[in-house]
Amino acid sequence: MNRFVFSYPTKVYFGEKSAAQAFEAELGKMGETVMLAYGGGSVKQNGVYDEIKTLLEQGGKTIVEFSGIMPNPTYKKVQEGTALVRERHVDFILAVGGGSVIDCCKVISAQAVLDEDIWDLEYVKGRFPAAGIPLGAVVTASGTGAEMNASGVITHEEKKWKGGIFGVAPDFAVLDPAYTMSVPPMQVFSGAFDTLSHAMETYFGRSDQDNVSDDVALAVMRNTVTNMRRLLVNVQDMQARSNLMWDSAMAENGILKCGRLTDFQAHQIEHQLGAYTDCNHGQGLAVIHPAYYRHIIKDAPDQFARFAKVVFDADSAEAGVDALKDFIIACGLPTKMSQLRSTVEITPQLLRQVADTCNIIKTGPRELSRDEIYDILLECL
Ligand code: NZQ
Ligand code: ZN
Repeated sequence: MNRFVFSYPTKVYFGEKSAAQAFEAELGKMGETVMLAYGGGSVKQNGVYDEIKTLLEQGGKTIVEFSGIMPNPTYKKVQEGTALVRERHVDFILAVGGGSVIDCCKVISAQAVLDEDIWDLEYVKGRFPAAGIPLGAVVTASGTGAEMNASGVITHEEKKWKGGIFGVAPDFAVLDPAYTMSVPPMQVFSGAFDTLSHAMETYFGRSDQDNVSDDVALAVMRNTVTNMRRLLVNVQDMQARSNLMWDSAMAENGILKCGRLTDFQAHQIEHQLGAYTDCNHGQGLAVIHPAYYRHIIKDAPDQFARFAKVVFDADSAEAGVDALKDFIIACGLPTKMSQLRSTVEITPQLLRQVADTCNIIKTGPRELSRDEIYDILLECL
């Protein structure tokens, strides 16, 4: 194990009807004015908005609404939310949605108390925010694990860039699997694949020491695959969604990363693909992962063989990557760029730009060149 510090800022309320329990404990700490932030309206259709609004009203809060946070939230939307927080003197931000809503709010929280542009602070000056407006998250779509960390993934449209911006971690998170029952099947599977990806990206980081985190990561991967298979039989299986909701949090709350380095190269490629195409995150990962793994399989043969055996009951490293690809197909997830929903046509020229602008990870099994990333992307076309 490498040296590490672990402490946790987010209190989790997990399970059916946990919102009422959470609000009973947390309302008193929220202050008077609460910004109720959500996305494109799913929360109004499934009743979550009414339930949360009633809880806030019962607590005597003044509610400031901030809606329309889009999938792959933009930097512009962050600034719009920040202006509203300042104008209405918001004391607490409540993010109700999936990873996009939660991420946008985490960055709004930090930006609202800064005098300077948060992108410049982090990417030009290399400094990170130390404070923010207190925040809570009510998760309605699981997969990203965004509710248990401080980093938001934001698309800066002018800079043609998508990536992490450190904001503020939620003080508390409500994880009620019943809230996810209205998520459409494709989003359920792409969210769950994102979870699997987080655990894989962590596990395949460079490692020269045996590590308890690897055993935990493999357990999370296997459980994620098992419960995705349950959903293939019955997509409304609440137990399976419940397990996947905690798998999602476990994969990105830092526990799997304790004492080891991580990879996250597939994520870096997918984020830049997202900057150019606005494609769905989990679906982009489904396309990229098998091709990426075929390139690095010889650089971490033992790790791949163990992954194959534990996660897919496959008897070789290569068979494990084949099983991953077959599983992606079985879940109805895309395996080719042409199957992604994209705002623009995905051409070799566009993929060259993605390869030339994505982050390159130095802690994966092998550092890739930009040409090799381009080759990987072309193999996915
Ligand atoms: O906007 P609404 O109307 O709410 O609809 C959303 C959206 O269209 C819908 N949805 C959410 N809850 C629902 C629901 N529909 C019906 N019933 C419900 N209960 O689902 C659609 C997708 O939502 P979104 O929040 O975009 O999905 P997800 O949770 O997958 O988040 C994706 C974003 O998170 C980032 C991704 O890059 C992407 O921008 N990530 C964040 C991470 C983090 N902060 O740790 C890590 C990840 O690697 C990832 O990069
Ligand atoms: Zn992800």
